[in-house]
Amino acid sequence: MDLDHFVRSLPKAELHLHIEGTLEPEMMFELARRNGVALPWDSVAATRAAYAFSDLQSFLDLYYAGAAVLIHEQDFFELALAYFERAHADGVVHAELFFDPQTHTTRGVAFATVLDGLERACDEAQARWGISSRLILCFLRHLSEDEGLSTLAQALPHLARIHGVGLDSSEKGHPPSKFARLFARCRELGLHVVAHAGEEGPPAYIVEALDILGVERIDHGVRAAEDPALLERLAREQVALTVCPLSNVKLCVYPTLAQHTLGQLLDAGLKVTINSDDPAYFGGYVAQNYIDTAQALGLTRAQLKRIARNSLEASFVPEGLRAPWLERLDAMPA
Ligand code: HPA
Ligand code: ZN
Repeated sequence: MDLDHFVRSLPKAELHLHIEGTLEPEMMFELARRNGVALPWDSVAATRAAYAFSDLQSFLDLYYAGAAVLIHEQDFFELALAYFERAHADGVVHAELFFDPQTHTTRGVAFATVLDGLERACDEAQARWGISSRLILCFLRHLSEDEGLSTLAQALPHLARIHGVGLDSSEKGHPPSKFARLFARCRELGLHVVAHAGEEGPPAYIVEALDILGVERIDHGVRAAEDPALLERLAREQVALTVCPLSNVKLCVYPTLAQHTLGQLLDAGLKVTINSDDPAYFGGYVAQNYIDTAQALGLTRAQLKRIARNSLEASFVPEGLRAPWLERLDAMPA
């Protein structure tokens, strides 16, 4: 079996995926036309050509500009359904989708419009492809904690449809501790909690996310590699890291994939997973992330199986759902 086929055959969960980051330029232009929204680029090719980022912020500026074409329930539905179709082709059996309500509510789009469209796509993906999914509301860390608390208030009537919360956007200067009260409230509500930490921010932000926010997984977390005591802790506590290798190279966290620390994190015994983050902007969906990383770092098939197993184990699903996926995975050749 060639590597491409092997990777796509591995049952896997995608745990770090911003649904707004799956907006391909073709759909961006179609929605811009349909909704009468002006874009800063004049063609699909010019848009793709603008995807040369120097850091996280240079990406976020474009990502928020692109998201402005999403207005109606149908837009969110089509966006998420297109993602699920690609995820299915990549062997994803379960996806936990991040969504950024503040990116939309600040433009006058109702919270329920976003959620209704995404949820309808989740239902359709289950019916068409048997993919299970969960929705994770991400708070934008460049906004204030009070703005996060008012977003949580808007989410309250919909909590049955929201599985957890996360923290994303500009990391530097916005430590997890800024959101201590907000995350305490989310935990009291019984929500799962995760946070981006240690992507561009220092290892200390990973420690804050664990100790102050009480997160169950760390999104990215790759800068843990700089701190031996933290590496030892993450391995001991088996905290899952949702690593996004192509994203890290596109946003210049590492100069090349060959210099990525994923292999080092795996060797240190951490529960590493591979994910696509914002695949429409970073050049590949989840299977491509597995394949390119395996080739650049010389990962073995046993290691790729381990990574897929980690993703299933770290997903927020009941055992009854997880067990058949693990059985399928174990039946794969190593
Ligand atoms: N980091 C922080 N915020 C984000 C990202 C990311 O990689 N993608 C979308 N929002
Ligand atoms: Zn992310």
